[in-house]
Amino acid sequence: MGLLPWASPDCQRVAKGAEKPSEGTDLLKQLRPGSKPSQLDHQILLLDGAMEGAIVELSEELARDLTQAQVDPRNKLNELTSREWMSETVSVWLQRGLGAQHPDAQIERQHPAPFSFSDVSRMIRFFTKRGGVVLDPFVGVGSTLKACALEGRVGIGFELNPHYAQLARERIEREVAPDAPTRTQQKVVEGDARKLVPSLEYDSVDFVMTSPPYAAILHKEDHKARQERRSQGLDTRYGDDPADLGNIRDYPAFLEELATILGACSHPLKPGKYMAVVVGDFRHKSRYVMFHADLARALETRNFGLRGIIVLYQRHKRVFPYGYPFSYVPNIHNQFILVLQNDKQ
Ligand SMILES: C[S@@+](CC[C@H](N)C(=O)[O-])C[C@H]1O[C@@H](n2cnc3c(N)ncnc32)[C@H](O)[C@@H]1O
Repeated sequence: MGLLPWASPDCQRVAKGAEKPSEGTDLLKQLRPGSKPSQLDHQILLLDGAMEGAIVELSEELARDLTQAQVDPRNKLNELTSREWMSETVSVWLQRGLGAQHPDAQIERQHPAPFSFSDVSRMIRFFTKRGGVVLDPFVGVGSTLKACALEGRVGIGFELNPHYAQLARERIEREVAPDAPTRTQQKVVEGDARKLVPSLEYDSVDFVMTSPPYAAILHKEDHKARQERRSQGLDTRYGDDPADLGNIRDYPAFLEELATILGACSHPLKPGKYMAVVVGDFRHKSRYVMFHADLARALETRNFGLRGIIVLYQRHKRVFPYGYPFSYVPNIHNQFILVLQNDKQ
């Protein structure tokens, strides 16, 4: 968990009632694995990441568990200790990418809308145990599968565009070490998710992790960034295939199709298991469209209950002078991760 901005190495204890972080610093030394927490020792200060300076309140039980770094035997969801678990429930995450110049970012760059495999790794570690099966119905260049290979999970990805499907396969070969335990258990299937999702075996998947295509309406957005990609010879859209959800012009029709595919994931997903969907809101002319809310509501009528939303802060994005000096036009620098649970009986 060393990659996490506010995971264990960055946490510091403070005494209950301490006003300044420095007052609690000495208490950190008192808490070595195996040592007993004192009565005062029921808060942790987060020192890094988007939530820097936040104070975590601990229950008696958690304070005791924190000194032991063991996975609770009642935990059927994941393999996290109490400390690792708590930090992951903070609802704001800082998006962590490799940076465009990193050698392992070269395949990812060829896709117009990849998500960061390290954010996906965090999700996979929270929502599955090792050996668990993860489905991504819109796998693009395989960020979910790379995360699965690195985290010892089994991945299945569907992708309509054969070029991206091929890049996803190459990515596992190039970017995942040969001795990674589930490197050879990552499967990319080319085709339309409308047909492929229902073909999966009932109750065969432990977690769905995806970011869907955006409606054609979005092709107009963020035009400066898109012009730059075009000038570098990089794709700005997924392709011309009419089966591509990204080519549906009408937003309500797009939403309906997308919700139908994601809703169908309830069939292969085991009961009570989770689906996480990364989406961004957008502007259409002067209207702000709450895509994340529209999709969450649509999925609530299709066997999925919304359990929470993680705000993914994209601090690396550049700020453009949209609207200046006439009107308020936001630079949208966050995405949402919708966390939904399979309510099927
Ligand atoms: C937002 S991208 C996913 C990117 C991916 N998370 C990654 O990191 O590479 C959505 C993907 O869905 C694919 N797609 C669009 N319509 C599809 C369909 N009907 N069936 C399967 N894939 C589709 C697009 O080609 C695109 O690569």
